Formats: sequence, structure tokens, C-alpha cells
Amino acid sequence: MTRKITANLYMTIDGRGEFPKYPGWDLPTGDRDEPDEFFRQMWTNRYDDVTTVIMGRRSFVGHRNTHSEKNRKPNDPKFMFEYSRFLDRVDKVCLSHRLKNLDWENSRLMKGDLATIIRKLKAEKGGNIIAEGGPRLIHEFIRRDLADDYWFLVMPVVYGRGPRYWWPLGEQRTLKLLSVSAMKYGELVLHYAPVRTPR
Ligand SMILES: NC(=O)c1ccc[n+]([C@@H]2O[C@H](COP(=O)([O-])OP(=O)(O)OC[C@H]3O[C@@H](n4cnc5c(N)ncnc54)[C@H](OP(=O)(O)O)[C@@H]3O)[C@@H](O)[C@H]2O)c1
Repeated sequence: MTRKITANLYMTIDGRGEFPKYPGWDLPTGDRDEPDEFFRQMWTNRYDDVTTVIMGRRSFVGHRNTHSEKNRKPNDPKFMFEYSRFLDRVDKVCLSHRLKNLDWENSRLMKGDLATIIRKLKAEKGGNIIAEGGPRLIHEFIRRDLADDYWFLVMPVVYGRGPRYWWPLGEQRTLKLLSVSAMKYGELVLHYAPVRTPR
């Protein structure tokens, strides 16, 4: 079975990779012990099939410092502890030229050409793969058509600052909408697959 690669994007309406304030912003994953629909679609539903998570250096360090189980806050919702246990146990690929110590179990460093890295990962044994940011890395996935599908969480804010997702691409990328749902606080969850035209 080929390992499917999904890229996750979290962005404002103007394409900035930030988590801004909006109604419910401080409860981005729900105000209860159960994950909301967005979190279920992007994570909880995938705990059984995903065995590798790829992150750029900044995102890796951010996730390690916030989402590893040892860094969870006691009052965090139960499902966030489950998320941490999932992240702790999966194979984590940190892309970096300069980081030396990853300091997170089941992590490894890779570097170089992204398409070559993806080819290597796809040839390894394992389940599916999620590319979890940051924006620059995901932009490269889209520019070079390297993911099999994309989950976008679009937050209802025009923000005007923060890391950009979108830069010149060279040629357009066309995506096919697989599903769309609106969340409680106005976020949109968009699921797309690339449309590949024969060359
Ligand atoms: N899901 C998320 O993680 C997420 C979502 C939304 C927003 N954000 C925000 O976005 C920011 C981080 O995103 P970002 O786009 O600036 O950074 P990033 O993609 O997380 O990290 C960029 C770094 O990854 C390394 N890298 C990427 N491709 C590589 C390759 N092929 N080979 C070797 N190294 C490679 C480089 O690190 P070296 O310099 O070490 O070589 C590069 O500087 C943070 O502020 C975060 O809060 C993150």
C-alpha cells in the first residue's frame, strides 16, 4: 500500500499562518472534553492510519514545547492528552539544517530536497503521513505538488501579519474540493485533492 501524504494548513482568510483572536479563539479545539469536528477530521480520526508526521524546524520546536505529553498543562482537555500521546509515539521527521538535538522521542532529522525526502519516506514501511507545517514547508508541498490531499482550516479573520502561506508559484495549482464544513466559530474546514493534468 502506498503511504498517503496529507498536508494540514491553518490560516486566516488572508492566508497568514497564525492563530488569531475571534469568537471562541481561546477554545480553538472545543469547550469540552471531546474534540470538535475540525480536530476530529484533522487528527483524532487519523490516529490509527498515520504513523509519520513531518514538520519544519520551527513548527517541530513549537509542537514539542507545547504538545509533547511532558509539556501538557494539567487542565488541558483530555483529548489533547490523547493528541500528545499520539504525537509522542509517531515517527516525527524534523526538517532542519541547523538543529542538532531534537529532544523528543521517536524523532529524526532529515534535510535537503523535499521531493527526494518524500520519495524516501514513501519507500519506507509504515502508515500514512501528515505534513504539519509550517507555512513555508506547506507552500513547497503545494508548489511542487507533493501531497495527496490537503486539509485547510480557515479562521474568520483578515489578519494582515504573521507568516505567509502564499508566494509566487511559477504555475497555477488546481485543487478538487472533496468536502467543506463550517465550524461553530465560523472556521471553514476544506478538504482538497490535487488535480493532476497529464504532461
Ligand atoms: N502547523 C504549524 O506548525 C503551524 C501552523 C500555522 C502557523 N504556524 C506558525 O508558523 C511559524 C513557523 O512556520 P515557518 O513556515 O516559519 O517555519 P517551518 O516550516 O516550521 O520551519 C522552517 C524551517 O524548516 C527547515 N526546513 C524546511 N524545509 C527543509 C528542507 N527541505 N531541508 C532542511 N530543512 C528544512 C529550515 O530550518 P533550518 O533553518 O534549521 O534549516 C527552515 O528554516 C511559527 O510562527 C508558527 O507559530 C505553524
